[in-house]
Amino acid sequence: MRDLTTTSVTDAVLDQMSGTPDPRLKQVMASLVRHMHDFARDVSLTPEEWLTAIGFLTKVGQTCTPARQEFILLSDVLGLSALVNLLHDKTAVELGTESSLLGPFYQQDAPLFAMGDSIATKADGPELLLYGQVTDKAGKPLPHALVQVWQTDSKGEYDMQKYHGEQMDMRGNFRCDSEGRFHFRTVMPLGYFIPMDGPVGAMVQAQRRHGCRPAHIHFLISADGYRELVTAIYLGHDEHIDSDTVFGVSTSLVVLPRDNDPDAPVKGMPAIHYDFRLGVASGEETGRVGADPSQILSAVE
Ligand code: BEZ
Ligand code: FE
Repeated sequence: MRDLTTTSVTDAVLDQMSGTPDPRLKQVMASLVRHMHDFARDVSLTPEEWLTAIGFLTKVGQTCTPARQEFILLSDVLGLSALVNLLHDKTAVELGTESSLLGPFYQQDAPLFAMGDSIATKADGPELLLYGQVTDKAGKPLPHALVQVWQTDSKGEYDMQKYHGEQMDMRGNFRCDSEGRFHFRTVMPLGYFIPMDGPVGAMVQAQRRHGCRPAHIHFLISADGYRELVTAIYLGHDEHIDSDTVFGVSTSLVVLPRDNDPDAPVKGMPAIHYDFRLGVASGEETGRVGADPSQILSAVE
């Protein structure tokens, strides 16, 4: 029996966990305990504050549904998702297009559209064309790559927020042609507040942050033999382009729609041309960063 102090309690926990057979679990949990204990000592955490935190995390869990992932949102506003993305990018054998957050509004069973179709099947607003090519790092086309796309409508709402996961709109999948090219129509997305009606929104408000994301269009792009790319392109004219609440923007992903683009495969609307480059797969992929909320929930049921 040893008497615990504010410092020796950390070693006592680490001792007890030292027989963990899985080396990675052992490493992650030991580091987590060390950092959590350091944090509690650093701020002299009080019992009231600790209970407030437990109550907050309980509410975060209770807010999760098949159409809403409040824990991902929490990770996003704390910059943890952005950090995990950056760490993930560093493990790539070769870096293609920069990645960005998957976010909580991805759904993996979106409809497959024909080239040139509009993903705005219900929403209306100013039309926009998106086109480009999926290639490898050196620019070699990747025939028949799969392009999954999702975005808000022109009022800044996702289908999952409007229809609570019961109907889809503003999302779809496209199969590139034999030269890796794609084009589709959509409506101009609007920037939006992250979901502010839950515990994470309350925390963001308590910190006097604006809670906005600049307008963007999400992409998840895959091709056999290449590392899956999770990214988004951001509209440069948005007033929050430099202060994204979830830290997803990087310069190479900022675009501006062009009127009368002579190269656009469809005329009569502003166009965005963006080419995506995929790095080769390493064979020991850690998978995409993030998931469809309904898949997370069914995995723990
Ligand atoms: C999104 O881009 O869909 C998103 C990302 C993080 C938090 C909220 C929304
Ligand atoms: Fe988004």
